[in-house]
Amino acid sequence: MKRRDFLHGATAITASGIAMSGIGRSALSLGATPMQSLQVAVVGVNGMGWSDLSSVGSHKQVKFVGFCDIDSQRFDQADKGFPGVKHYVDYREMFSELSDRCDAVIVSTPDHMHAPAAMMAMGMGKHIYCQKPLTHTVWEARQMRKLAQKKNLTTMMGNQIHSAKEYRSGVRMIRDGVIGKVREVHSWVGVQGRQYCNRTDRPAAAAVPANVNWDLWLGAARERPFAPEVYHPFKWRDWQDFGSGALGDFGCHILDPVFCALGLTAPTSIEATNDGTTQEVWPGPETVTYVFPGTEQTAGKEIRVVWRDGGLKPPRELAQLPDGVELPSAGSLFIGEGGTMVLPHVGMPLLYEGNKVKAVSVLEVQGTNHWHDWVDAVLAGKKTTDGFELAGPLTECVQLGNVAARNPGKKLQWDTQGMAFTNMPEANRFLTKEYRKGFEVPEVR
Ligand SMILES: NC(=O)c1ccc[n+]([C@@H]2O[C@H](COP(=O)([O-])OP(=O)(O)OC[C@H]3O[C@@H](n4cnc5c(N)ncnc54)[C@H](O)[C@@H]3O)[C@@H](O)[C@H]2O)c1
Repeated sequence: MKRRDFLHGATAITASGIAMSGIGRSALSLGATPMQSLQVAVVGVNGMGWSDLSSVGSHKQVKFVGFCDIDSQRFDQADKGFPGVKHYVDYREMFSELSDRCDAVIVSTPDHMHAPAAMMAMGMGKHIYCQKPLTHTVWEARQMRKLAQKKNLTTMMGNQIHSAKEYRSGVRMIRDGVIGKVREVHSWVGVQGRQYCNRTDRPAAAAVPANVNWDLWLGAARERPFAPEVYHPFKWRDWQDFGSGALGDFGCHILDPVFCALGLTAPTSIEATNDGTTQEVWPGPETVTYVFPGTEQTAGKEIRVVWRDGGLKPPRELAQLPDGVELPSAGSLFIGEGGTMVLPHVGMPLLYEGNKVKAVSVLEVQGTNHWHDWVDAVLAGKKTTDGFELAGPLTECVQLGNVAARNPGKKLQWDTQGMAFTNMPEANRFLTKEYRKGFEVPEVR
């Protein structure tokens, strides 16, 4: 299949909801007997991409068929670990060429390219392991969830701590009612939204190094000139066009056990306070207050979940901590009717009541290998515990916080069915964005 036909096929999902014409290996194997091996292609092979591919690649039934990176100097580790895998610079070319030799795709690019790459692969019936936050916008998270469901794919978000014993134990204990029904949750992290570049305006343009394909790095984002040391690699996090700030970086980790323990769905309102944003970068220290409908695990009809970053923490007294004990640098505080649970990021749960350690033994749930769980589930034709049916709503929540961050001091009322703010329509434009030609994300109907 030529690239032009390939891109044309992507449009077909939007228009008619039909699958793309390139029926690949995994599309054929869906619903069939368990697969014996998994052929995997990777988009973004350095940074977290290396961590993902080396972890997936340590599974005996995995074989890599393609490595894609826009930086020719960033293949070294992948080549050393898994020699002989063909290199690509454009994921669209890779998917097109490997259409019938690839079952699954790992997406470990900067946030703004998760949805364009993953949606294209899912359109071809490929199973996906995608880094957190699942997407760059609320709208993209909704499309990713819908397409994965429609095509019955095995998906996993790359918030690997979901499978760690610390978080699994915390979730189990809340669900077992160890601190009773939960009244309120506070979550926090030390980093802040614009800490890697320490600037609020764009730097001067510079020549693009020969090893970097800047056009493909920009991908779906609006064009802007290259500059060193502020975007690629890693520092893109600060910029609204590419990253998702501190909330986007850590929310999908730290709020995951909150979602799982309480069975949260979508918030009904979101309100942020911060020191102000520019059109370019995310804010510094911020507080985002969510209200969710109550669940079986909550004390009331509604529950408040408060996010803080940039060094802000919940008031210590809320945690009922014994003298001399402080809150960890990052984590969540569950306030229940029968005590509190502090779940450090990352550490075993700590239980308190009335300024004493609560007299209850901490249950230890065994952790699992997040990456292998995905591979095993794909091979067996099953779902994971952290598929897009969970990761989608969690990422929507995180990115709703980022919409609120761009409209500080306003309590945004959220209608999740209608995908709109009911009291501030002018904020709706932040739910999605414009895509550069060739990198569009199709709407799934
Ligand atoms: N789960 C975790 O603990 C964890 C930790 C770090 C990062 N992450 C996530 O992983 C993703 C990558 O973050 P990072 O810190 O590794 O970023 P990075 O910039 O250091 O690395 C990204 C890699 O992808 C490549 N790349 C960029 N655009 C590409 C494109 N369009 N096609 C192919 N390759 C492309 C880059 O050259 C680079 O090798 C982000 O979504 C981030 O949030 C997750």
